[in-house]
Amino acid sequence: MIGERTTLDVTHPSPLPFSVAFDPRDEDDIMRRWRTLLRGNQWSHGEQLQEFEVEWAAWNGIPAVGFDNWAGAAAAVLDFFDVAGKTVLCPSNTFLATPRSAMNAGARVEFYDCNREDLCGSFTDFVEKAERFKPALAYIVHIGGHIAFDIHRIADYCRTRGIALIEDCAHAVGADWDGVRPGAFGDAGLFSLYATKTISTGEGGVAVTANPDLERHLRSYRDYGRGSHYRIQGMNHRLDEFRAALGVVQIRRMPEIVGWKQAYARETLDPHYRNRVELPAGMGSGYYKYIVFEEIPQTTGKVYELPCHKIFGCDVELSNTEWISKNHWCVPIYYPKP
Ligand SMILES: Cc1ncc(COP(=O)(O)O)c(C=O)c1O
Repeated sequence: MIGERTTLDVTHPSPLPFSVAFDPRDEDDIMRRWRTLLRGNQWSHGEQLQEFEVEWAAWNGIPAVGFDNWAGAAAAVLDFFDVAGKTVLCPSNTFLATPRSAMNAGARVEFYDCNREDLCGSFTDFVEKAERFKPALAYIVHIGGHIAFDIHRIADYCRTRGIALIEDCAHAVGADWDGVRPGAFGDAGLFSLYATKTISTGEGGVAVTANPDLERHLRSYRDYGRGSHYRIQGMNHRLDEFRAALGVVQIRRMPEIVGWKQAYARETLDPHYRNRVELPAGMGSGYYKYIVFEEIPQTTGKVYELPCHKIFGCDVELSNTEWISKNHWCVPIYYPKP
C-alpha cells in the first residue's frame, strides 16, 4: 500500500552498516586466480574473462559480454542500434548515466513517467510518449533491484512497433520474474559492477543479449572494432583479467548474497515496513535497495533525489516521478561481513 503513513509502535530494525558484498570465504580463490595471472603473461582477453562470461550467461539464461563498466556496455549497444539523430525514450527516475549514454551517442532523449508502486517505467506514459515521439529505442530501468512491473507490456509493445528495448539492469542482479532474469525481456540488458552494487568488481559491466548479431557487435566494439576489420568504430571498453577473476567468484557467490538479502527482507524488514514496494507474485528482487514510502529515522536516503528531467532542465510534467522523488526512502540492506 503506498501513499499512506503507517505508525507502528515498535522500534526500527538496527541499520546495517554499508559493506561491499564480498564474502571473505572467497579470498583464497581470488588470491589463487590473481597469483596465476601474476605468474602468467595473459592479463587481458584470457581465461578469466571467458569463465566470467560463461558463469554470468548461466545465471542470466542468455549470452553475456564483459565490459569495463555499464557506460562502455551502453555505448556498444547504442552503436549497434545506430541511434544518432534518432529519439530515445528514457524514464526520468534513474541515474543520469541512462539518458546521458543516449545523448552522448547523438540521440534526442524524451523522458517518460514512472509508476508510484515500483518506481519504474509506466506503461501508460510509455505508450503516450512512444506514439508522440516515435522512438527508435527505449530504455527501461529496474530501479532498486526488482524488475519493472510493466516490463511484459512494454516489451510486447516495443516488439510490435519495432522499437529496440534496452533494460538498464544496473541494480537488478539477482532478480527474476517467474525464472526470467533481467535483460532477457527486451533486446539487451546492461549491468553495472561498480563498487556499491549488489556484487562488484570495483568497476565493471556486463551486457546480455539473445541476439547473436548484437553479441558479435559488442565483442568487437569493446576492442576497437577488432574482428570486424575495424568496420565497427568501437573504443577500448575491455574488462581485464584481474577484475574478470573477481567477477567469476562474485557471480558464483551472488545467489547466496541475494538469498541472504531476500531472507533479511522477508524476515526482518517486511514485518516492520508495511508501506513499501510490494513485489508481484513470482518476482524475486536482488534487493540492491529496500524501498519504503514513509520517512524513517535510519535511512540511506533516496535512490535518486533529483529526477533526470530536472537535472537536464526539460520542460515536461512527470507527476509520479516528482511524487516518488519526495516520498520514498531506503532502508539499509547490506550483506554483512562476519
Ligand atoms: C541505474 C544506473 N544506470 C547506470 C549506472 C552506471 O553504471 P557504471 O558506473 O558502471 O557506469 C548506474 C550506476 O551507478 C546506475 O545506478
